Amino acid sequence: MRIGNRLHQLRQSKSIGLKPLAKKIGVDRSYLSRIESNHVQPSEQIIRKLARSLGCDEAELMLLANRVPPTWRTAIKKAPQHTASIIRDSLTTSAKNGNGHADLLHSNGENAVGLEESVNGKTRRKSPAGISTNDLVFSAHIGTNDELFPAILSLYVKPGSTVADVTYGKGVFWKQVPPEKYKLLATDLSEGADCRSLPYKDSSLDCVVLDPPYMHTPGGTAHVGHQNFEGYYGNNRAANGSGKKYHEAVLDLYFVAGEEASRVLRGEGIFIVKCADEVCANRQRLTHVELINQYAQNGFIIEDLFVLLRRNRPGVSRMMRQMHARKNHSYFLVFRKSNGKTRWTGSKWLSSSR
Ligand SMILES: C[S@@+](CC[C@H](N)C(=O)[O-])C[C@H]1O[C@@H](n2cnc3c(N)ncnc32)[C@H](O)[C@@H]1O
Repeated sequence: MRIGNRLHQLRQSKSIGLKPLAKKIGVDRSYLSRIESNHVQPSEQIIRKLARSLGCDEAELMLLANRVPPTWRTAIKKAPQHTASIIRDSLTTSAKNGNGHADLLHSNGENAVGLEESVNGKTRRKSPAGISTNDLVFSAHIGTNDELFPAILSLYVKPGSTVADVTYGKGVFWKQVPPEKYKLLATDLSEGADCRSLPYKDSSLDCVVLDPPYMHTPGGTAHVGHQNFEGYYGNNRAANGSGKKYHEAVLDLYFVAGEEASRVLRGEGIFIVKCADEVCANRQRLTHVELINQYAQNGFIIEDLFVLLRRNRPGVSRMMRQMHARKNHSYFLVFRKSNGKTRWTGSKWLSSSR
């Protein structure tokens, strides 16, 4: 597609006349008309104004006008070989798939635009309904919880759903989620609601979010400033309610809360769990694996795993000999409550709401 055709399409879809749009970007009507008929190439400045006025992606318009988006130039200059190899790989993939577009078939085997259908023994391409997008949610993210969490919701939880965040804390996950998007039920132990015994009826919720303290503390001054499990449960003292200690106490809370989530979620409901692995008493404990295995016993199917990488360096204390890698990542796990006979069919609402 050429830039003129795209601009025409965008303008029509927004029901904006040539004249008002021309006025808005400060050119005359006939000039805009010549841009739309591909007789003139707009300057970068005009492209920028058009993108702003039409509420569309400036980079897309720049590329259609055979220009490298200005914001990309520095990044490309910094890593030209890497950029070239990404584009080359993408073109190779598209050639292998026999289509003229880059990146139509994703590495996870989900065919984004064209599905294959078999008619009279012959395979032909089928056009799915809806608008395709390359604005995808990725499985690894460098940044913070509040940046990643809305993307996870957008992929798995339909707007309007009833979502219980059962370890709400300071509500950090929700900082960038528009309040009108979900019916949020926020509870926390600090307000008297224990995630192991929730005040909700069986099968009444669409989604449960769980983010309990995920590391044990060895007591003393260690881990002060971290999410302090010891402070809540006194794990390092025997009397913590669960009878468990250290990492086993961390797991025990997740496990019992998982059973409770299974009770309150409706069939096909979504359970989003935040966790991190830890080394405890010099043993590597891959909490995310332990949770995935345990929750399978509660009827949860793992649908996704998101890795969140800290932007900043974690605080480290000096040590004589490092035994294991210092963790600077955590996870969001997404489970679906299922009887085992159903598959996740994706978020049908996605193209219209993201
Ligand atoms: C890691 S913080 C949660 C942060 C939260 N996601 C946020 O965005 O602010 C852990 C939270 O779990 C809560 N908590 C600990 N044990 C709990 C329990 N048994 N039931 C409910 N909440 C609990 C703590 O009060 C704390 O607010």
